[in-house]
Amino acid sequence: MKSPETTDLVVISPSGLDLNRIDEDALRAVERLQKRGSQAYLVGGCVRDLLLDGQPKDYDIATSARPAQVKRTFSRNCRIIGRRFKLAHLHFDGNRKILEVSTFRRAPEAADESDDDDTDLLITRDNEFGSAEEDAKRRDFTINALFFDPIHDEIIDYVGGLQDVESRVIRTIGDPTIRFREDPVRILRAVKFASRLGLSVDPDTFDAMVAVAPDLKRAAPPRVLEEILRLLRSGFALDAFQLLRDVGALGVILPDIDAFLGESDARDRVLFWRTIEALDARVRTEGAPSAGVMLGALFLQPVLAEARNEPDASLATIAEEVVQPFATDLRVPRRETACLKRVCSVHARFTQRGSGRRFKPSAFAQDPFFDESLEVFALSCAASGEGLDALERWRRIADGSAEPSPRVEQRPRGDSKSNEPRRRKERGKKGKGRAEGGGKKRKRRSERPIEIETLEPEQVDLTAFDIELSPRRAPTFGAIVEGASKKKKRATMSFEEDAYKPPPPPGSSPSEPVAPPPPPPPPSDDEFGDW
Ligand code: CTP
Repeated sequence: MKSPETTDLVVISPSGLDLNRIDEDALRAVERLQKRGSQAYLVGGCVRDLLLDGQPKDYDIATSARPAQVKRTFSRNCRIIGRRFKLAHLHFDGNRKILEVSTFRRAPEAADESDDDDTDLLITRDNEFGSAEEDAKRRDFTINALFFDPIHDEIIDYVGGLQDVESRVIRTIGDPTIRFREDPVRILRAVKFASRLGLSVDPDTFDAMVAVAPDLKRAAPPRVLEEILRLLRSGFALDAFQLLRDVGALGVILPDIDAFLGESDARDRVLFWRTIEALDARVRTEGAPSAGVMLGALFLQPVLAEARNEPDASLATIAEEVVQPFATDLRVPRRETACLKRVCSVHARFTQRGSGRRFKPSAFAQDPFFDESLEVFALSCAASGEGLDALERWRRIADGSAEPSPRVEQRPRGDSKSNEPRRRKERGKKGKGRAEGGGKKRKRRSERPIEIETLEPEQVDLTAFDIELSPRRAPTFGAIVEGASKKKKRATMSFEEDAYKPPPPPGSSPSEPVAPPPPPPPPSDDEFGDW
């Protein structure tokens, strides 16, 4: 380890990181920038994830090169994006992979650095170009501010991030209260990293999260919604939402969910958490479902609990009452709002008892949000342990393989009536036909599928859930840094002389038969917290 002049700086070399785990285009891009005389490092989540033995989802590069220089260096596959602060996106594989290259920036000077609590620290001004150290220090958490130079195999730490990776702690860079007041969405990011990576929250950081949580009201609603969806699709939503509650953020961003948890009885609360746990299991085994399903997992129990308080109101009315304030506050897109209300309001149909009115499962299966509703029903079955027979039958109805069952009464309609439920595949691609009205077409009476009496009601036995959830154990990992510095280098980089070859511009290669996906829209500049 070198002893740098700056007391804060720690450089670990060799890093102990396995270069084979790192995206080759990212390595080559760093190499190319360095060969052109710029400083260039991998930075942020990819370095953190590599140190924590995870596989990075994407790669960010920080460099001393200005955007125009980056553009000149990667002329063919580089796009400059951003209005307030320009970044370079390097496109690979016909836009399927994007590396973000940002010029070192420094945080804007605070307008008033007094300790007065009323000083508005919310960052609304542009950042400016800066040094590597300034760039590290403007980032949110120490574990997110590590630079990795793969060419010289060095980890560069200006903020104590290596120590925190080793101790598995999430800690803000600098005074946590100031950092959260500058950008309250950092509270949600802290929750995300702590839950997803199994980290503990540094006590001062935790206290500041509690103190500043009310400021989340001032954060841009789309950013808050996006962070909520990220938590739901992380596979660690149970831990995340419990932590949100612990720091008082849930009451600010999802007040109705928080009120439900505060007011409901133990059985309802446990069912709520079990539903979130079922969502986590689903995410880990099959990947994340749609936003409507994830939000359905969050809102289903609160809606059902409210319905029990208002027995005269329809489930649709209750779903409207509970969901709409959230949708308005966080500007949830219209389709997701409609889906969320629907999955909650049709929930009882899956276990509805046939009464006077005939219920037509095959017609219900044509509902525009049937798939999502069935997924949410599946989560609630997993949560309660009940309804699994009904779930199985509905799945068979949905995929067209339902056999007439002894519990299902058929209404014979003569030879001209088909007993075959309409196969879902015939409805065409998911959503498309329905959106175009294809699935909505009213059939002539003779073509309608057979009518079936409703299924038996399910008696939900909740006695098994009379205890609250036991705390989860965080996954264990070895001591990373210590281990890493002792570890032998598992791979060395060998680059041919200027081996970097930019890919052809999207669409120009004859070996690219499929049209590449369009580049994602540039991130809209955020009114608050342009970190
Ligand atoms: N960053 C930050 N403050 C923010 C957003 C981002 O300091 N509000 C910095 C951090 O250094 C972060 C990096 O930008 O690591 C990349 O941000 P992002 O892609 O949002 O997160 P990742 O850390 O890459 O995590 P994830 O795995 O969730 O993408």
